Amino acid sequence: MSRKYLIAGNWKMNKTASESGLLVQQIHSSVGSQSTVQVAVCPPFTSMGKVSEELEGSQIALGAQNVYHEASGAYTGEVSAEMLRDLYVTYVILGHSERRQYFGETSKSVNNKILSTVAGNLKPIYCIGETIEQRERNETLDVVRTQIREGLENFSDSEVENLVIAYEPVWAIGTGKTATDDMAQEVHSFIRKTLAELFGENAAETIRILYGGSMNAGNASGLLSQPDVDGGLIGGASLSQKSFCGIVQAALDLEA
Ligand code: PGA
Repeated sequence: MSRKYLIAGNWKMNKTASESGLLVQQIHSSVGSQSTVQVAVCPPFTSMGKVSEELEGSQIALGAQNVYHEASGAYTGEVSAEMLRDLYVTYVILGHSERRQYFGETSKSVNNKILSTVAGNLKPIYCIGETIEQRERNETLDVVRTQIREGLENFSDSEVENLVIAYEPVWAIGTGKTATDDMAQEVHSFIRKTLAELFGENAAETIRILYGGSMNAGNASGLLSQPDVDGGLIGGASLSQKSFCGIVQAALDLEA
């Protein structure tokens, strides 16, 4: 089963609209015309209109960093799936550990967002991963299994090909500490096994599982060459053309 690599940049709360426009132009001119590796950028909401315009005619997909589960109405400060689709958004990052840590999100509360994302014809990138304390207590596999089961409750089998999982060990995010290739593979293969229990073997083989946590152009090749690592969700290294496209290139080299 061949799954196309997905390299997605999570820009977090960085870049004004004009800065975003410049960065995406650079990424576009460097890797925007190939389709061997799927590339996506997820800028802040204020940059999405600008980035969407810049991406016209390119193979790069646009992603959002959040969505609200209701379709419209009196929800001050929130954005709906339809508003994102209108900007040609494809992916939505959900359940990121920063949203769990600072904004009180849980796997259960994110479940609504995941279901409304697929109902709105967008693809969720559902982030899961253990803290350092959980890893030290040997709870990693239990933690990710619970996150999968709670976050994906009532997820329809027929939507499975639109689901992306990102395994992001919390202790590796923004810290410069990366999971070793073997550590990543162990958890990714466990995630796929858990997905197979929920959706069946064949479906689980189609779901892309990204690694996230201090991935950069230097360590990408080792991580991406693991059999169950299907791409990367990149934070810090997605903020410059050189480092982000270096990771895309590592994926392209593995496909060559
Ligand atoms: P990082 O962030 O690459 O800066 O560790 C990854 C993420 O939070 O998605």
